Amino acid sequence: SNNVQGAGVRPAQWSSRFAFIMAAVGSAVGLGNIWKFPYITGENGGGAFVLVYLACIAVIGLPLMMAEVMLGRRGGQSPIGTMAQVAADEGRSRSWVGIGFMATLASFLILTFYSVIAGWTMPYILSAASGEFGGIAAKDSDALFGGLLASPGQLLLWHSVFMGLTVLVSAGGVRHGLERAVTKLMPALFVLLLILVGYGMTSGHFGEAAAFLFRPDFSALTAEAVLVALGHAFFTLSLASGAMMAYGAYLKKEVPIARTSVVVALMDTGVALLAGLAIFPIVFANGLEPGAGPGLIFVTLPVAFGQMPGGSFFATLFFVLLLFAAWTSSISLLESLVSYLNEKGVSRVKAAIGGGLVAWLVGITTVLSLNEWSGFTPLDMFARFEGKTLFDLYDYLTANIMMPLGAFFTALFVGWKMKPAHSAAELGGWHRVWFPVIRYLSPIALLIVFYFNLW
Ligand code: PHE
Ligand code: NA
Repeated sequence: SNNVQGAGVRPAQWSSRFAFIMAAVGSAVGLGNIWKFPYITGENGGGAFVLVYLACIAVIGLPLMMAEVMLGRRGGQSPIGTMAQVAADEGRSRSWVGIGFMATLASFLILTFYSVIAGWTMPYILSAASGEFGGIAAKDSDALFGGLLASPGQLLLWHSVFMGLTVLVSAGGVRHGLERAVTKLMPALFVLLLILVGYGMTSGHFGEAAAFLFRPDFSALTAEAVLVALGHAFFTLSLASGAMMAYGAYLKKEVPIARTSVVVALMDTGVALLAGLAIFPIVFANGLEPGAGPGLIFVTLPVAFGQMPGGSFFATLFFVLLLFAAWTSSISLLESLVSYLNEKGVSRVKAAIGGGLVAWLVGITTVLSLNEWSGFTPLDMFARFEGKTLFDLYDYLTANIMMPLGAFFTALFVGWKMKPAHSAAELGGWHRVWFPVIRYLSPIALLIVFYFNLW
């Protein structure tokens, strides 16, 4: 028999533990690892930032992933439905459903800009395939990327294509095809990153890059950088966004949650570190700026591919894989909303199209903030938001405010409001370590980060 359920039909389940791992890794590994991690590491000074990020993964991210998958499996519904169900089962206030609403809103907001960035991979696939990167100089690569950002029409086109791809899979139900796609994609992506790291080793700047990533200089670490590292731990593991909760809802009772979560977190972290080791040797070898911002990989990687034998082939493959990695993540970004609407009686097809359409519309403001509206920084009156465009603000609001808050309340719920016997039944032997961490360590660590950022 399965866990406690309200009325309604339980959705189809993952065929195996492996299928769940593939879907969860598909959600976790994406632009966060390959696009965002390197550029925020560059912006925040390297080593100390990476160390704080790894600590956030271990102390807050991983235990929270276990909590969310567990909640999802117990609730067996959309993140909103799940929180309502679990709060009721535990005899707690209905207001805990707020966790589900905030997660759904966060993933929706992320999707709006995620699609725009993912869209960048498509013109890069075309450029790579046509040999445009052959022997390209850093400044020409920079100009190529600048040209893309300066063109709202191009950005809008690729944003539209990508959102269409996301809606297509989401409308058909997430479990079809996802497993097969991810099984092939992840090993290929891994191998390609290894090739790039190998190339970095020949650049003569590998040691410098490794030192930048792994030699911490805590004097350079600000309270804001700690918050960014924390927010990124959630973003990269697809937490506080309903994604893991929604996927947990399709998980069979026999699958061990704790061990499975460890595998997912390790793979995600591995991909991010490899991406860092691939990109920074190129940055240093070409005198590029580590803190260049969101364009970092799109400027650096063509230079590396351009000098490699078989570079056009590898570059094409790389951007195709990045597109797929972003695709399997964006599907999960839409899942919280679609599964909720579906519970409310809207068909999956209509929910996916409707949700995708609104996300696409909001995404246009991100497209414009990269060019026409790049001077529109509406929250300049607050020091924290000074100089931030709409795109910057969506990113900041979701990763650095909504996700840490959602994580905090989730930790409070499972650590203090849920009967420990219930979580122990889900987590087995790991519960002994997990419970004190999620009850004390995670919320206290979160409070400390909040405290230093507010004062
Ligand atoms: N984890 C994904 C990435 O790193 C992004 C994501 C966030 C996906 C939240 C789903 C939910 O690219
Ligand atoms: Na990730």
